[in-house]
Amino acid sequence: MYAQMIKSEASREDPEKLAAFQARIDAGDKIEPKDWMPLGYRKTLIRQIGQHAHSEIVGQLPEGNWITRAPTLERKAILLAKVQDEAGHGLYLYCAAETLGVTRDELTEMLLDGRMKYSSIFNYPTLTWADMGAVGWLVDGAAIMNQVPLQRTSFGPYSRAMIRICKEESFHQRQGYDIMMKMAAGTPAQKKMAQDALNRFWYPSLMMFGPSDKESVHSEQSMAWKIKMNTNDELRQKFVDQTVPQAHYLGLTVPDEHLKLDEETGHYAFSQPDWSEFFDVLKGNGPCNRERLAARNKAWDDGKWVRDGLLAHADKKAARKVAAE
Ligand SMILES: [Fe+2]
Ligand SMILES: [Fe+2]
Repeated sequence: MYAQMIKSEASREDPEKLAAFQARIDAGDKIEPKDWMPLGYRKTLIRQIGQHAHSEIVGQLPEGNWITRAPTLERKAILLAKVQDEAGHGLYLYCAAETLGVTRDELTEMLLDGRMKYSSIFNYPTLTWADMGAVGWLVDGAAIMNQVPLQRTSFGPYSRAMIRICKEESFHQRQGYDIMMKMAAGTPAQKKMAQDALNRFWYPSLMMFGPSDKESVHSEQSMAWKIKMNTNDELRQKFVDQTVPQAHYLGLTVPDEHLKLDEETGHYAFSQPDWSEFFDVLKGNGPCNRERLAARNKAWDDGKWVRDGLLAHADKKAARKVAAE
């Protein structure tokens, strides 16, 4: 179905329509699912929203890992709510992607067989309770930095999903920072755990903004279409500028000996992450890639009887309706 749609769409594309489409975007209009849109816009959005939805779903795994071992009932309830929010984000986003003509099952299958990606950050393990702090603070923090501008993105359903998601992401970030505050002000062993979590999650968080603008192939067109609102480097800088003072407040050290505030510009100079590691994780060689995909595949297989049952029920209902007519 998807391939068919792309084919018929491509044959209808003409320069006048393209110009009118761009003019609408430039004027700040929202593009809605039934509006005409260029094939590339549709394809890029399906990839971007689908990838985003998959990240929310796979992103539940590293934190889900600690729900049963949360140190108090209160922490458990908070973490549970947070992880549940991420499932909700995945669902909003799958719905937004579906308005572009792809089904949720197709998207899921592409995730499970590796044709579609999710954010590389979720291929890193969560080794201690302090990692719950670092993930909320840094990973959700970087996600917010990426997502707040996307509330103004040109595609209506995506933009509206982002508005709801961002509200919840700020709570996620605060709960993470709250854990870090507790740990950093705790016993020397707890503070050490907090520092270790920061050490392990700092560079992977910087990678979440993607490679440098010079290497990012899709950037220019996506910026013109307002699918991407800022460059990767702009957002990364913003994240560093916001996060370093927060680390200082915790009394923790950012693991970067070149980190330095430029008094004139107000921006921090910082070291780039190891991009060869990034591309390696992207290729499937991160510490948890196999484990994450295996977990999603198992969930899909285990849920088959539920899907089959629902479909059988729907078929029966339809048959009864036909018989009654
Ligand atoms: Fe989320
Ligand atoms: Fe989140």
